[in-house]
Amino acid sequence: MIGELSLLSSSVFSPAPYKEYTLKYTEKEIERITALRGQNKTFPEIAAILNRTPTGVRRYAERNHITIQPDSHNYIKVAFVNDFHIPFHDKILLDLFYEFLAYFKPDKIFLIGDLLDCYSLSFFDKDPTRLGRFQDELDIANNVLNELYRLCPDIEFWEGNHEARLTRHLKKNPQLYGLRCLEWESLLFLKERKIKFHSYADPPFGFHNFRIHHGNIVRKWSGFTAKGNQEKYGGCGITGHSHRGGQFIKRNMAGWDGWWDNMCMCRLDPEWKDFPDWLQGWSVAYFTRKDLFHLEQIPVIDHKFLFHGRLFGK
Ligand SMILES: [Fe+2]
Ligand SMILES: [Fe+2]
Repeated sequence: MIGELSLLSSSVFSPAPYKEYTLKYTEKEIERITALRGQNKTFPEIAAILNRTPTGVRRYAERNHITIQPDSHNYIKVAFVNDFHIPFHDKILLDLFYEFLAYFKPDKIFLIGDLLDCYSLSFFDKDPTRLGRFQDELDIANNVLNELYRLCPDIEFWEGNHEARLTRHLKKNPQLYGLRCLEWESLLFLKERKIKFHSYADPPFGFHNFRIHHGNIVRKWSGFTAKGNQEKYGGCGITGHSHRGGQFIKRNMAGWDGWWDNMCMCRLDPEWKDFPDWLQGWSVAYFTRKDLFHLEQIPVIDHKFLFHGRLFGK
């Protein structure tokens, strides 16, 4: 089964009305605009090809219903992704995510924790057949960051509880605690990539009044974690950590609040859980300058998903 959850009514998302205008385009240019929008080119990209202004091209496309999705020029497009648990990530899923990013062209990627499993740093019993070197995890994670950075160079990274295993490990070996070469900024070359880092211990970070955090609540059912976070933090936001995906939306006379728990990017056969009820995928959101937003969750089922009418995956 392939599904796409549209989680927020379009009434919440209110694009600004455009003004009347007069623009003259040749028939050839009109054909080019239609074809390039069909290839999901942004308005600034089309304008550069046609030697026109981005505003003029966008207005023409809007008037003629050529627009396929909101223009990144007017909205900030964000992809939320988390819980890869490298080296237990799903490689096919990861390739699909790269393909999606090339298509969606987000302005920002928010990596919200558990990028690495830090398996070797766990204090739980470990399966010796799965035990690899911590350096191997780091090498894979750095390759993933290289590819993400190539597709979208504006990335923020939230430490998850699995990355926090490193801090716990260092606190047990205080002679090493505080060594800069053992901090995530150094191990993942975050400063070189200009990736902003948020520690797991920090409270949820607000982006346009939208709270983002790896999360420390896991409830049994999809959406219950989102409800727990809404009760704990209030307002609107998203977490990873539950691996389930879900939403909780509440409206009252004071306004409305919406929280989401995001899906995961890891394999669905962990050694510690028999048939977990997790869901793979990620979320995207469009933020306007006036703190309005529209969030869509993209569940990936059997390595296939639909996004705005287009099928991804074989
Ligand atoms: Fe996780
Ligand atoms: Fe987690």
